Amino acid sequence: MITLHEKIDVNRPVEEAFAYVADFRTAQQWDSTTDTARKISKGPVATGTRFELACRYPLGTFALHYTLTRHEPGQVLVLHGTSRFFDVEDEIHFSESATGTRIDYRATFTFRGLLGALAGKFRGGLEKMGRDSVQGLKNALDDKFPAPVLSSSNRRAQQLVFPAITRFTRSGFNKGRKDWLPMSRWMGDKHVVITGANSGLGLATAQALAALGAELTLVIRDERKALGLKQALERETGNGRIHIEIADLSLMAEVERLTQRLKRLEKPIDVLINNAGALFNPRGETSEGFEQSFALLLLSPYRLTLGLKPLLARAGGGRVINVVSGGMYGARLKLPLLEAPREGYSGSAAYARAKRGLMILTEEWAVQWAGEGIVVNAMHPGWANTPGVESSLPLFYRLARPLLRTPEQGADTIVWLAVASEAGLASGKLFLDREPRTTHLFSSTRETEPERAALIQALAGCRRSTPARDCQVVPC
Ligand SMILES: NC(=O)c1ccc[n+]([C@@H]2O[C@H](COP(=O)([O-])OP(=O)(O)OC[C@H]3O[C@@H](n4cnc5c(N)ncnc54)[C@H](OP(=O)(O)O)[C@@H]3O)[C@@H](O)[C@H]2O)c1
Repeated sequence: MITLHEKIDVNRPVEEAFAYVADFRTAQQWDSTTDTARKISKGPVATGTRFELACRYPLGTFALHYTLTRHEPGQVLVLHGTSRFFDVEDEIHFSESATGTRIDYRATFTFRGLLGALAGKFRGGLEKMGRDSVQGLKNALDDKFPAPVLSSSNRRAQQLVFPAITRFTRSGFNKGRKDWLPMSRWMGDKHVVITGANSGLGLATAQALAALGAELTLVIRDERKALGLKQALERETGNGRIHIEIADLSLMAEVERLTQRLKRLEKPIDVLINNAGALFNPRGETSEGFEQSFALLLLSPYRLTLGLKPLLARAGGGRVINVVSGGMYGARLKLPLLEAPREGYSGSAAYARAKRGLMILTEEWAVQWAGEGIVVNAMHPGWANTPGVESSLPLFYRLARPLLRTPEQGADTIVWLAVASEAGLASGKLFLDREPRTTHLFSSTRETEPERAALIQALAGCRRSTPARDCQVVPC
């Protein structure tokens, strides 16, 4: 039997430190021997919750199954772990200290078979590993990380274009995640609005943020799906602060009514995630006369974000996250025809152009709103296996399926932009896998300053109840 014992003081309230460690999935963020960690039992984290960790050792990885056997909020956690090499009992005590929280971490290993006889030989290595892990936990909870930057390998990949596109895949995600920093910011006092939260990336984002305790407002167009999702999230996470708002976001009247409802509540919005989207084939127009791609993917987030800006400003450090697409790399802003023309319509081209427009808005708002403490960033998820991709790009889906990311992998950067402290240090950027990326892979897609100004003017000129063909700057 070998016992490791370490104490650390962290600059965080007890409630926050406890919540972070109790969800033992976070071990993959702070314990260098843990490759991945997932919760394998249902329901909120409590006594009886089970976790599965994939731990690294010199010959590969092995599974370590933990059960939370004692969960006394703000005081003590006990986890019993079992693997083919050893059993381990982790006992973690939390108490108030001068700097915030003292964490007293004791791990007792009992090795199996021959390893038990040899245990004394690797005591030194094990003790170092324990010190490193607990130091990793301290770094995670102290949460002082620099602003995100583009790595040299991704800079080179962008210059060569093709390697940058290979990063959109699942293997690109796995490559990217190797260098990620812990994400321990407390979300219990944050209010996050997510559009399109019932499917794909929006759903994965809602699940992750609900588990982190954020208050959520989920904007969904189908009431039945919305109610089912709210109940499922509450059951799974124990989060009782999940609200739903019903709105078809392709209709500006509904965007306006949603904005007014949220404004009447006067609840500051810490994070607005403009995620709802679809790729439309064939071309269609909304009942208000707007071409669908333009309405849902550009005019709608434009209106919603501007409408909710006072609530974002009131939050102090509000964040806007615009979900764009790698497809925009092939698109150039086209003025005056922001809306896809009737002749020669391509759903992919209309989609890509609208996402390009949303990227430009991201950059413009970041500059304009810096003085109000609102940061505005965009992200693209790479290629993720979602109902949207399956239904709108069936051929691509069939061919690329083995390469696609899971919805959780696609949504990871949305969650990171919403949660990570250092993500709040960036604004006006496009992210993939938590790193800022170029907004243009080809010089031919670059727009001019007058074109950017014309885009803003065009969007401002599209009035709510004005039929599209009467828009002054965006002829339809
Ligand atoms: N998956 C990818 O590889 C990928 C790549 C690049 C960009 N994206 C972007 O990621 C975002 C999420 O897409 P996804 O792949 O997760 O697709 P998804 O599974 O189809 O989810 C899209 C979400 O948007 C909602 N939505 C669509 N039209 C709406 C409307 N008129 N009003 C309100 N909500 C509406 C959908 O609601 P319903 O369920 O009611 O339709 C759904 O909740 C989109 O902006 C998409 O462009 C995805």
